[in-house]
Amino acid sequence: MTDPNLAIIILAAGQGTRMKSSLPKILHTIAGVPLVGHVLATAAALEPAHVVAVVRHERDRVVGVMSELLPGLLIVDQDDVPGTGRAVEQGLAALPEGFDGDVVIVSGDVPLLDSVTIAALIAEHRSTASTATLLSALLDDATGYGRVVRGADGGLDRIVEQKDATDDELTITEINSGTYVFGVGPLREQLALVGTDNAQKEKYLTDVLGLLKQAGSAVAAVPVSQPWLVAGVNDRIQLAEAALRLNGLIVRGHQRNGVSIVDPASTWIDLSVSIGEDAEILPNTQLKGATTIERDAIIGPDTTLVDCEVKQGATVKRTDATLAVIGAWSTVGPFAYLRPGTDLGAEGKIGTFVETKNAVIGAGSKVPHLSYVGDTTVGVGSNIGAGTITANYDGVNKHKTVVGSHVRTGSHNVFVAPVRIGDGAYSGAGTVIRKDVAPGALAINVAPQRNMAGWVEANRAGSAAAKAAAEASEETN
Ligand code: UD1
Ligand code: CA
Repeated sequence: MTDPNLAIIILAAGQGTRMKSSLPKILHTIAGVPLVGHVLATAAALEPAHVVAVVRHERDRVVGVMSELLPGLLIVDQDDVPGTGRAVEQGLAALPEGFDGDVVIVSGDVPLLDSVTIAALIAEHRSTASTATLLSALLDDATGYGRVVRGADGGLDRIVEQKDATDDELTITEINSGTYVFGVGPLREQLALVGTDNAQKEKYLTDVLGLLKQAGSAVAAVPVSQPWLVAGVNDRIQLAEAALRLNGLIVRGHQRNGVSIVDPASTWIDLSVSIGEDAEILPNTQLKGATTIERDAIIGPDTTLVDCEVKQGATVKRTDATLAVIGAWSTVGPFAYLRPGTDLGAEGKIGTFVETKNAVIGAGSKVPHLSYVGDTTVGVGSNIGAGTITANYDGVNKHKTVVGSHVRTGSHNVFVAPVRIGDGAYSGAGTVIRKDVAPGALAINVAPQRNMAGWVEANRAGSAAAKAAAEASEETN
């Protein structure tokens, strides 16, 4: 249920220079979701009445992604006054005039902070009737962060930024995570008083805490249970660390749900993937996008699946597949490449060194070895011989191959599309099928083989082949 007294402001105007990327920092992904997408999901889970994002850097790109992920998101453009205080001040202007509740401030680059932690912070804020409650963290290395300065009574006095801190203050290991709950009225009032007289010439949100304290308001800093929850992503090292941490959480979630994951360290699973009970994921496997895996399936080792549907009991070994459907109890690989539009029926097979694309392969049908099957439908119970190529492209257009049910084609065939092979038809080894084959017919077009006796002796005299041939004919004589 929506909390009418809750608004969330997501700070997302910063540039993210340290990523050294043409992609805005908060659009870099972990577990298949942009950093800011994780923050939006957390915000939505708190069911606030309003969510505001403050943007500036690469504004259109950032807004495009954010608005799609959270329809109804309010967007505010930050002006040229720099600093988190200015960002919040402008964000507040997007809230309806009558709003008189609490405002949660979060950063767009802190992806692992979950709604449970923020909900606890809000509960603490409300139960203690505080004006401001800040989420802090105790770090071994506090470098770069704002420090929580506590008074003689142990309560929060103010926050000092790294660049403004004295040597004494720099030894403080309790840091400001950048996540806060404020009463909207006092926040508005104090922000109006904050200046830019500091080392960075920015309007600091953190100054509000000291001002509130001086004004006699109740302010508090509450340490987070585990520091990684509030880890920000500023560079690619922190991006990889956050991805690793989140992947560990995702893997353990599936394990708790009854999925065997043999090697969590080499298994990468996007947030959006679903996996059924008793499925088994073998080492070096990546499951991405909208992939769904039904129960009892065995995936890997060395397999990447993007937006795939794997049905119950299928085995997919050393395979790369995108937008493919893999039928129940079917087998794929090792060393298969399934491109978009591949749809393998139940108990079918796509075997070793086989590439497929737009290929609907019916139940029980098999493409076992060394083949390319594109723009093709195969009925049920058919077997495509080893080394078969569908010649689907005439250099300008793509054409279809239609293979019926219970067909047996020979090894090393070429199906020159468009072409149809009828139900129950056969073809000989090495056939180039250019014309439709009627149901039940045998297609062959290989010229009869001629053996020209003594050709090697006559034309390659003195060669190793000629000697071997001579020895062999002596033995038989
Ligand atoms: C801020 C805090 C610091 C805290 C740290 C936690 C201030 C003054 N300092 O420092 O106490 O330890 O976060 O990570 O608040 N942003 C805007 N507009 C701006 C500037 C920043 O929207 O003008 C956004 C950024 O995109 C980012 C967030 O605010 O999402 C924090 O900004 P950042 O520059 O990373 O602040 P820090 O200097 O790290
Ligand atoms: Ca930061």
